[in-house]
Amino acid sequence: MPGFELIGDEEKQAVIELFDKGGVFYRYGFNAKRQNIFRVADLEEKIKTRVGAKHALCVCNGTAALKLALMGAGVKAGDEVITQSFTFIATVEAILELGAKPVITEVDKSLNMDPLDLEKKITGKTRAIVPVHMAGVAAKMDEIMRIAKKHDLPVVEDSAQALGATYKGKALGTIGVAGIYSMDFGKIITTGEGGVVVTNDEKIYLKAREYSDHGHEQNPKVPRGEDTRAIWGFNYKATEFHGAIGLAQLKKIDFILEQQKHNKQRLKAGLGDIPGIEFREVPNPEGDAADTLIFFMDSRKTASAFAKKLAAKGVGTKNLPDAVDWHYAGTWTHIFSAYDEYKGKNLEDVWSQSTGLLRRAIALPIMVKTTDQETDEIIRVVKQTAKEM
Ligand SMILES: Cc1ncc(COP(=O)(O)O)c(C=O)c1O
Repeated sequence: MPGFELIGDEEKQAVIELFDKGGVFYRYGFNAKRQNIFRVADLEEKIKTRVGAKHALCVCNGTAALKLALMGAGVKAGDEVITQSFTFIATVEAILELGAKPVITEVDKSLNMDPLDLEKKITGKTRAIVPVHMAGVAAKMDEIMRIAKKHDLPVVEDSAQALGATYKGKALGTIGVAGIYSMDFGKIITTGEGGVVVTNDEKIYLKAREYSDHGHEQNPKVPRGEDTRAIWGFNYKATEFHGAIGLAQLKKIDFILEQQKHNKQRLKAGLGDIPGIEFREVPNPEGDAADTLIFFMDSRKTASAFAKKLAAKGVGTKNLPDAVDWHYAGTWTHIFSAYDEYKGKNLEDVWSQSTGLLRRAIALPIMVKTTDQETDEIIRVVKQTAKEM
């Protein structure tokens, strides 16, 4: 999902222009000096139009965006928030930051939240549900939304890896009460660090905006220095550098998605006849951001050996298995040992269904600039390696 592959003159010019037109790096105020150009605000407008949300708030990173979205959705200390076992650790950290308890569901063959397990994990303390659209593949949102509705719980989508991806025609991040995107260096578009909250709910938006800016209400009747406040907050503001670069990157998103889809389709078609492998289930084939191609092998041992052989031949994997420790709750004893129910347990046994899938999974990265010839070479190497197993 690498917008970083396309960083070029457009991003450079956008930053030069930021210097040339007043050099105001701060997102608010200094209207005359900045020639009334507000890049973060412009990026927010463009993102909300792109995804079809009423509100967008750009902040310093996706982890902060998730914390803000959860806070806006009403999560407080002592609540339980349900998310899935396969995610980047940031999802759970955002929940912990609010003093809430992360409750983890199994993933199914989509490698996203297993709706069957979700229903089992709901208790009287559950305050929100956070499905994660890992690698731009949608979680099973119809089922998840149905369960959430039944239990009257808000869904906050962790779409950090899914800007531009859709599910049944709707942008991921806009199906629940709020969603978030990340623009860190590995994401579909990048501003180095950067995050976005999107929502149709004005209350969520305002709470997130106020908390991200020390409680500033942006009261139009008074200057910023005399601004009113109802809550205390923190500082998660984005800078105009985020705005400038984000605007340049956003112009490239269709190209990024098209290229990735093309490259993923070619790779998948080329690997389809390898005996004994099973591809990850993709509930949104049309709207997949096509960030990785994931398939399962018959055992943990085979998958591990396979990945090692691929690496030796110059074919890398993405997160599975190389960085599974940062993406699988089953390895996060430093977090879950704080809770009595997990003490002394092997977490990989706690989420055994997830372990059974994730430990057998190989994720091949899909890059924007890979040529058809290069894809064909990867196919050749992967097939050859499969024969050697
Ligand atoms: C699923 C998921 N959630 C949250 C985040 C956090 O985003 P950021 O790195 O912008 O803080 C990431 C980033 O990798 C992610 O992949």
